[in-house]
Amino acid sequence: VSLQSLNSFGIKANAHRFLRIDNLTQLQALRAHIVADVELATLPRLVLGGGSNVILSDHLPHLVIQMAIMGRELVGETSDHFIVRSGAGENWHAFVQWTLEQGYGGLENLSLIPGTVGASPIQNIGAYGLEIQDCFHSLTAFDFVTGELKTFQKQECDFGYRDSIFKSGEQNRFVIVDVCFALPKQWLPRLNYGDVAKYLLERDITAPTPIDVSNAIIAIRQSKLPDPAVIGNAGSFFKNPVVSAELRNQIFQQHPNCVSYPQTNGEFKLAAGWLIEQCGWKGYRCKTVGVYEKQALVLVNLGGATGIDVRALAQEIQDDVLKKFGVGLEVEPVFV
Ligand code: FAD
Ligand code: EPU
Repeated sequence: VSLQSLNSFGIKANAHRFLRIDNLTQLQALRAHIVADVELATLPRLVLGGGSNVILSDHLPHLVIQMAIMGRELVGETSDHFIVRSGAGENWHAFVQWTLEQGYGGLENLSLIPGTVGASPIQNIGAYGLEIQDCFHSLTAFDFVTGELKTFQKQECDFGYRDSIFKSGEQNRFVIVDVCFALPKQWLPRLNYGDVAKYLLERDITAPTPIDVSNAIIAIRQSKLPDPAVIGNAGSFFKNPVVSAELRNQIFQQHPNCVSYPQTNGEFKLAAGWLIEQCGWKGYRCKTVGVYEKQALVLVNLGGATGIDVRALAQEIQDDVLKKFGVGLEVEPVFV
């Protein structure tokens, strides 16, 4: 089965077996098949959402399980919050827009992030000063080992920067089926990051609504990031590295324009895009892959890129940044 239209990098990958899951019963039936069928049981599994954070190999020996469980609803409220639930297969941006249409603010800073709701907890998606952990309530996951459903409360997810418990341990053991978010009844805009406040002020929006903030984020993102429908990509290719104050100061002495953000523990987060641009990679093109000309943190498919091509370019950039700045960059998307 071709996965080319199911991954945002547009890699021409083929899966040995592919199954789309529309409801929980199908997932339970699939596990029963796997338990009973030696051939299926030996296949590696890959759970796929929107394919916007994966770099695929040409031939995947996997059983690929595409999560397409839909549905979104208000499931409860507390004195402070509305609790909304979404099926794993819902498109993230469409879900955010739906919450805003219902009058529930809270997720607007995460507008236009590609992919599904079910993948959002995997790397604790974040942008413009918000991470899903800030509005996360709980999730339900199907455990492929026991065949049972398990609820994960926020504390059990070990959320960190682009990280959660689902990225460690047994990969693809837990399939996220639905996610609940707690959205504040007393909404306050979060405008302290990047160009959001500036964008609103330039338009004389002094008391923004959640929809105003969402529209600002959409416009800013569209001006910086390539649309995967036009240019294949997986968003930021590396995490922003966190380094010691010593290393940051060393870099700062030679490069006073170095972009860094102090962390609560005294360390500093550096802008990986800045480091890569300083090494001269911005706008680089080599046959099938390149570095986006407006954002050096984004690798792009120039046509016909394979997972091997992408890995090779990523490695060259990592080596260069390490040599020049002494900073190791960690890849953000998942190589399969
Ligand atoms: P996939 O790529 O399908 O899967 C990603 C991982 O999650 C895989 O390991 C997969 O096995 C696992 N997975 C998926 N669904 C499930 C499930 N239901 N249960 C268990 N495991 C599952 N990310 C940010 O954090 N912030 C950004 O601002 C941002 N901007 C982006 C901009 C662009 C243009 C692009 C292309 C990507 C961007 N990303 C960003 C990355 C991406 O959007 C997120 O990682 C998103 O959550 C991926 O969702 P997906 O459904 O496409 O996941
Ligand atoms: N910068 C450069 N050159 C570049 C790119 C960036 O100098 O080519 C500098 C910018 O000038 C800016 C700083 O780096 O001062 C940060 O850039 P930007 O605001 O574009 O954000 P980012 O750090 O590159 C992160 C996330 C994005 C998220 C944005 C907005 C990571 C790895 N990336 O990018 O998430 O949308 O902030 O909050 O944390 C993703 O994870 O896929 C993703 C797109």
